[in-house]
Amino acid sequence: MKLFLDTAELDEIKQGVDWGVVDGVTTNPTLIAKAGQDHETQVKKICGIVGNVSAEVVSEKKDDILVEGRRLASWHKNVIVKVPMTPDGLAAGKVLAGEGIRVNVTLCFSVNQALLAAAIGAYIISPFVGRVDDINEDGMQIVRDVVAAYRQQDIKTKVLAASLRGPLHVSQAALAGADIGTMPFSVLQAMFKHPLTDAGLKRFKEDYLKSQEPKPAREAEAVKR
Ligand code: E4P
Repeated sequence: MKLFLDTAELDEIKQGVDWGVVDGVTTNPTLIAKAGQDHETQVKKICGIVGNVSAEVVSEKKDDILVEGRRLASWHKNVIVKVPMTPDGLAAGKVLAGEGIRVNVTLCFSVNQALLAAAIGAYIISPFVGRVDDINEDGMQIVRDVVAAYRQQDIKTKVLAASLRGPLHVSQAALAGADIGTMPFSVLQAMFKHPLTDAGLKRFKEDYLKSQEPKPAREAEAVKR
């Protein structure tokens, strides 16, 4: 499973790329607004750091989505155009996909929606996990079901597990067979963490330092022999 960052913060993206673990970024209007830059400037800057950058349209009508989607795609070759899971969003997405633009259908919450996205030739489908958990249902089950349906039907659209809220979500998405998981930077950081890694490193460091301490003369002689 490829790891994407769900952020528009340049420092976070640079850090993730520098660690060598991040292959892309998903943005949405909320995340761009948080970064405090206009959409075009920020998306172009992100595309300068990493490939596979989803940028979302805000138009609602097919013709407006088409105009906006083409404009987003013209900003940089790394842009993937995010369209909404609506009849207009899909109709526009089909035209964009036909023009060779990579399309990400966002806000997916069911297998049927994922089948519709596949039917228009979407490059990515984004089932949202955390937002389903928020209403006391099992968001990860949608990822499992979409992956199973796509495998069964030999559908090539990539499953991007979105709205991942913690490290457990990431593991579960990978085990469910998602192609991509997108997460906030804090979740990426949390993926590194394990108490036994920390304890092991501490112990190795202590033992190394002990081995470097000067030995009493007689003991040093014995070591030589
Ligand atoms: C993905 O494309 C979305 O930007 C994102 O994962 C939404 O996550 P949230 O539900 O935590 O806002």
